[in-house]
Amino acid sequence: MAATARRALLLALLVVAGAAVNAKPYSPADSLLLNCGSTADGLDADGRKWLADTNNNMWLGDSGKSSIMAAADELDSSLPSTIPYMTARVFTVEAVYNFTVNPKDRHWLRLHFYPSSYNGISPEDFRFSVNTSTGLTLLHNFSVWVTTKALTQAYIVKEFSLPKTPAGFIAVTFTPTPMTNVTYAYINGLELISMPDIFDDPATMVGFADQTVDIAGSTFQTMYRFNVGGGYIPPSNDSGLARSWFDDTPYVFGTLQGVTYNAGPRFHVKYPSEAAEYAAPVEVYTGTRSMGSDPRVNQNYNLTWTMEVDGNFTYVVRLHFCELLLNRPNQRAFDIYVNNKTAQSDADVIEMTSERGVPVFKDFAVHMADEPGEEFMWVALHPSVALRPQFYDAILSGLEVFKLNDSRGNLAAPDPEPSKMLAKAELGAMSDKDRTKSQKQANMATVMGGTAGGAAAVGIVAAICVVVYHNKRNRELTGSESHNSGWLPLYHSHTSGKSSGHIAANLAGMCRHFSFAEIKAATKNFSESLMIGVGGFGKVYSGVVDGDTKVAIKRSNPSSEQGALEFQTEIEMLSKLRHRHLVSLIGFCEENNEMILVYDYMEHGTLREHLYNKGGGKPTLSWRHRLDICIGAARGLHYLHTGAKYTIIHRDVKTTNILVDENWVAKVSDFGLSKSGPTTGNQAHVSTMVKGSFGYLDPEYFRRQQLTDKSDVYSFGVVLFEVLMARPALNPALPRDQVSLADYALSCQRKGTLADVVDPTIKNQIAPECLIKFAETAEKCLADQGTDRPSMGDVLWNLEFAMQLQDTFDGRSGRPQGRDDDGSGRPAVLEPSNSYGSTASVTTIGTSSTSRVHQACAIAEEDDEMLTGAAFSQIVQPTGR
Ligand SMILES: *[C@@H]1O[C@H](CO)[C@@H](O)[C@H](O)[C@H]1NC(C)=O
Ligand SMILES: *[C@@H]1O[C@H](CO)[C@@H](O)[C@H](O)[C@H]1NC(C)=O
Ligand SMILES: *[C@@H]1O[C@H](CO)[C@@H](O)[C@H](O)[C@H]1NC(C)=O
Ligand SMILES: *[C@@H]1O[C@H](CO)[C@@H](O)[C@H](O)[C@H]1NC(C)=O
Ligand SMILES: *[C@@H]1O[C@H](CO)[C@@H](O)[C@H](O)[C@H]1NC(C)=O
Ligand SMILES: *[C@@H]1O[C@H](CO)[C@@H](O)[C@H](O)[C@H]1NC(C)=O
Ligand SMILES: *[C@@H]1O[C@H](CO)[C@@H](O)[C@H](O)[C@H]1NC(C)=O
Ligand SMILES: *[C@@H]1O[C@H](CO)[C@@H](O)[C@H](O)[C@H]1NC(C)=O
Ligand SMILES: *[C@@H]1O[C@H](CO)[C@@H](O)[C@H](O)[C@H]1NC(C)=O
Ligand SMILES: *[C@@H]1O[C@H](CO)[C@@H](O)[C@H](O)[C@H]1NC(C)=O
Repeated sequence: MAATARRALLLALLVVAGAAVNAKPYSPADSLLLNCGSTADGLDADGRKWLADTNNNMWLGDSGKSSIMAAADELDSSLPSTIPYMTARVFTVEAVYNFTVNPKDRHWLRLHFYPSSYNGISPEDFRFSVNTSTGLTLLHNFSVWVTTKALTQAYIVKEFSLPKTPAGFIAVTFTPTPMTNVTYAYINGLELISMPDIFDDPATMVGFADQTVDIAGSTFQTMYRFNVGGGYIPPSNDSGLARSWFDDTPYVFGTLQGVTYNAGPRFHVKYPSEAAEYAAPVEVYTGTRSMGSDPRVNQNYNLTWTMEVDGNFTYVVRLHFCELLLNRPNQRAFDIYVNNKTAQSDADVIEMTSERGVPVFKDFAVHMADEPGEEFMWVALHPSVALRPQFYDAILSGLEVFKLNDSRGNLAAPDPEPSKMLAKAELGAMSDKDRTKSQKQANMATVMGGTAGGAAAVGIVAAICVVVYHNKRNRELTGSESHNSGWLPLYHSHTSGKSSGHIAANLAGMCRHFSFAEIKAATKNFSESLMIGVGGFGKVYSGVVDGDTKVAIKRSNPSSEQGALEFQTEIEMLSKLRHRHLVSLIGFCEENNEMILVYDYMEHGTLREHLYNKGGGKPTLSWRHRLDICIGAARGLHYLHTGAKYTIIHRDVKTTNILVDENWVAKVSDFGLSKSGPTTGNQAHVSTMVKGSFGYLDPEYFRRQQLTDKSDVYSFGVVLFEVLMARPALNPALPRDQVSLADYALSCQRKGTLADVVDPTIKNQIAPECLIKFAETAEKCLADQGTDRPSMGDVLWNLEFAMQLQDTFDGRSGRPQGRDDDGSGRPAVLEPSNSYGSTASVTTIGTSSTSRVHQACAIAEEDDEMLTGAAFSQIVQPTGR
């Protein structure tokens, strides 16, 4: 008896313990990740392994043997990882991949595309169709270039779900579109993965209770997948199914966006069946969005999501629910509308599941006609007043939208057209009345913190546009013009970073405006001989303005839409920030579709060119000198993080973004990627698509897509080791364990062999204590968790301390301070200026040779108010210091 009771208790405990951990991951029978066009296996940012795609692999049909293994010509820094995007297989003629599959399973087919030139074929020349041996057309006359441009995305993933294939194989055919001009087809990455039976039951047609749609036999394309009321969930956290779940915030319609609630990771989600475990991960069910606590407010609005879709298709909308707080029926009951039609009235999650913590989902099918106004799918929730529930409220945990194949077996829709909407969303579009509403303020914070998950438009300007749009949309919803924002690589949705044309008007007051003629004169018509660099943004020239002022002129590549965003971000950031260790923006030019920035000229170029691959007989930098430059850069970053009213995260700290002026003063440059940081409350991060440069990217930022100032600290740690070891952050030519500088330096540091790998040209200049302090500081910067990394202020302090240790050593050993010991013969004037004083100094620009232009900028230096321009005050709440 007692034994039985004990066993029962034990069992109960086991059940609890077993269920408290995440659902056991699904192990797919077929799981193929093909890194197309690559000869080597590799891992992506989520740690998933992609297989090589050599010519004699078992999947590529004979027709594919003539295809080209190509590498992308350009690397976009917003790619989450080089794999699978940097290689492609390019097809000149129709070609087939043929995969053997388990006939009992449904399969995900994910096609990854990155727009670029490949082997000299320009991105416009790729136009193609993709169909399958199951008789489906997945893509037709598809242009990756046009699509990504319209959506301002760096890359695109098309996710399809194919029904069970009794034939036991799935052949995927790529066909270049026959046109007068030669076109090509290509593919960067292909995933084919078994999926569990989560699409078996037919869905009821909304408005036609007697009609159902057979999803089990259909192929469908994922249009949207949201973790409602929660953040981005990467493929690696999706119980083996490798789906990405995105934040729904940008898709919530109107000003009343409800409230989000998270029960936390310890909440016990009771999956009713094994299949249910795979419908959505625990993280989806433990977070909800509900309407709010005021019953009168809730009765008077619908909690609504709107999503753009393609016309003339049938869609399945899947709503995921899980009641986290209430226990009894009729405490919270609500109506569900899809496209303004009642999909279900009196929905009560407890009634559906019988208890708290049990997840459930509901599928509704709806046909979208091919008519104006039908391109938006509306999903709305409203309290069920008729039932008189205890709380007038509604909840949702997850939302998915799938497009079903039509009766001809087609899923393809025309390429999207660029949205004009955001171009019109001028910065000042919000009326003062709107701005004062505190509700709006709250929404803004949500939007800012919530633009997770996608590739495309980033930066502060995008966030502003979202805010503006959210508010505008509420007033005038103008069909094709209005479009939701959101930057999900998976989905058909327009975002646009187009803001040029309005920049001048918005920013003219901030900074000097140059005419295009002035710029042409300054650069001798953009003479190649004056070109000093090429970056993601475009080309950089040296030039002379006002007769004798030397400047650096950055001319954007007119085709770069992302450039437009970064252009404006950079102007806004830089024109308001003045610091001895930040590059000064002098002015800009916006004419003839040109976006040009004019900066102070940095005589000595980038830090990197003084460390390695030195061209033109550049002298070696002494150790003291390097340390001094590091201290200067740290000071610039410290100022960005704390000196301004808001935390500004640089996002792209690297040795090519640390410039050196004629006095060898280090200056941080390139704010194109900057993001204004954490704002209110306890939310210490900004969610955003990963941007930055490989080799310097914070691994935590990769994993969580959450940006903090500690991401800059990580990158700076890489810079410190780069300075010490004089080698690139990534060097694929080296043995595997040395490719990544961060990994290599950390392993040397831990093994105590760091001294052996220090740049030989400075090895005998470094005081041993100084090296220890410096290396320790760099190591801490590279801590895996952001919370374990020091602040930029701590880094600065430690580097100054390292400099003191070096001073002591140099004094003790009788070395002349302030002179080089490396025999490079550089004049003493190159030695560190004594910039390592106790407080960050603000540059006194009035005395510089460019004083005239600077005055034209009319910027108040170090002014508390300087960041409270319209742009900033609208998206962040001043926190005062
Ligand atoms: C794919 O392979 C199967 C055998 O595995 C074969 O029967 C089928 O004809 C092939 N399909 C194509 C389109 O090559
Ligand atoms: C796929 O498309 C190609 C070219 O358009 C065509 O020849 C082929 O028959 C199609 N295959 C299927 C299964 O529809
Ligand atoms: C493919 O799309 C392009 C651009 O929209 C169009 O010019 C062309 O006629 C289309 N070709 C086919 C075969 O549909
Ligand atoms: C064909 O190519 C030429 C040159 O590349 C281009 O100017 C023209 O617009 C293209 N025509 C079409 C229909 O794409
Ligand atoms: C992913 O899973 C890991 C381990 O279970 C967890 O630490 C991490 O927070 C998860 N990330 C997200 C974004 O849910
Ligand atoms: C739903 O109603 C709103 C107005 O309440 C309208 O703007 C929208 O176009 C409607 N959506 C559909 C799909 O009918
Ligand atoms: C909620 O949406 C439904 C369907 O579009 C509509 O009939 C109803 O009037 C809306 N309720 C409110 C309060 O907006
Ligand atoms: C809509 O799709 C059907 C097939 O499902 C097709 O017959 C019809 O022509 C399409 N209508 C339009 C306007 O494209
Ligand atoms: C999708 O195609 C399948 C056959 O491949 C067909 O049975 C099904 O009815 C189609 N779905 C729709 C919604 O037309
Ligand atoms: C620039 O080009 C224009 C004609 O396009 C010419 O008149 C002018 O002299 C050129 N200026 C320089 C500095 O080469």
